[in-house]
Amino acid sequence: MKNSGRLIGVGTGPGDPELLTVKAVKAIETAQVIAYFAKQGRGGNGKAIVEHLLNAEKTLLPLYYPVTTEIEKTDEAYRSQITAFYDQSAAAVAAQLENGRSVAVLSEGDPLFYGSYMHLHVRLANRYPTEVIPGISAMSGCWSLAGIPIVQGDDVLSVLPGTMAEAELQRRLSDTQAAVIMKVGRNLPKIRRALEASGRLAEAVYVERGTMANAVTTKLSDRPEGEAPYFSLVLVPGWEAAR
Ligand SMILES: C[S@@+](CC[C@H](N)C(=O)[O-])C[C@H]1O[C@@H](n2cnc3c(N)ncnc32)[C@H](O)[C@@H]1O
Repeated sequence: MKNSGRLIGVGTGPGDPELLTVKAVKAIETAQVIAYFAKQGRGGNGKAIVEHLLNAEKTLLPLYYPVTTEIEKTDEAYRSQITAFYDQSAAAVAAQLENGRSVAVLSEGDPLFYGSYMHLHVRLANRYPTEVIPGISAMSGCWSLAGIPIVQGDDVLSVLPGTMAEAELQRRLSDTQAAVIMKVGRNLPKIRRALEASGRLAEAVYVERGTMANAVTTKLSDRPEGEAPYFSLVLVPGWEAAR
């Protein structure tokens, strides 16, 4: 423990490199190893956000997901593969820490909010000096980009994964003032139906690649039907004055 390196979970924010915190920039500049999660063969969005801070002196440690959407998440094969992957990733990071090298693990948005970093954190934080640097979450970046006051006063905000069953999504949308629906992608047709059934479709705003160069913001009802890219979410404002 004494001579080991430091584990740093670094929130990279929603996409715009100018939304990195000063602390995140410093951590990336000083860490010897930069670890990041990505799909096989891809660079990873977290890495793209901090590309301007990387140089030849950094050791890059890509952690490639063995599966993403090919297998249903409820499938036992998915669970065992993803658990083994997080175990192996934690071992790869631990090997660097054991050598006294500090490892910054990039995490889009905030690391402890639906971020893969947390799977390393729970495996390593009790063994190595660890710090988590919060990031601006995707939802915060998206409602700021869209200029939507999301909640005020006593409004309740529900954060709902779009992967949820349609009836449950509808029930929760009927029982909240404001909502953020994450993990939209292929779930968008189902989300649209749940919003319609709960009477919230007219207020819903769709944001794609929020704060990135090619961001899209539109009322969901104006968007063509069909699936959405991975980096998209839906905002349902609670505050009536915002509509
Ligand atoms: C695994 S979660 C990561 C959340 C992240 N840790 C955060 O703090 O926002 C990924 C989901 O976040 C949303 N997301 C992330 N970045 C986004 C962006 N720039 N624009 C729209 N949605 C985004 C999408 O719904 C995506 O499916």
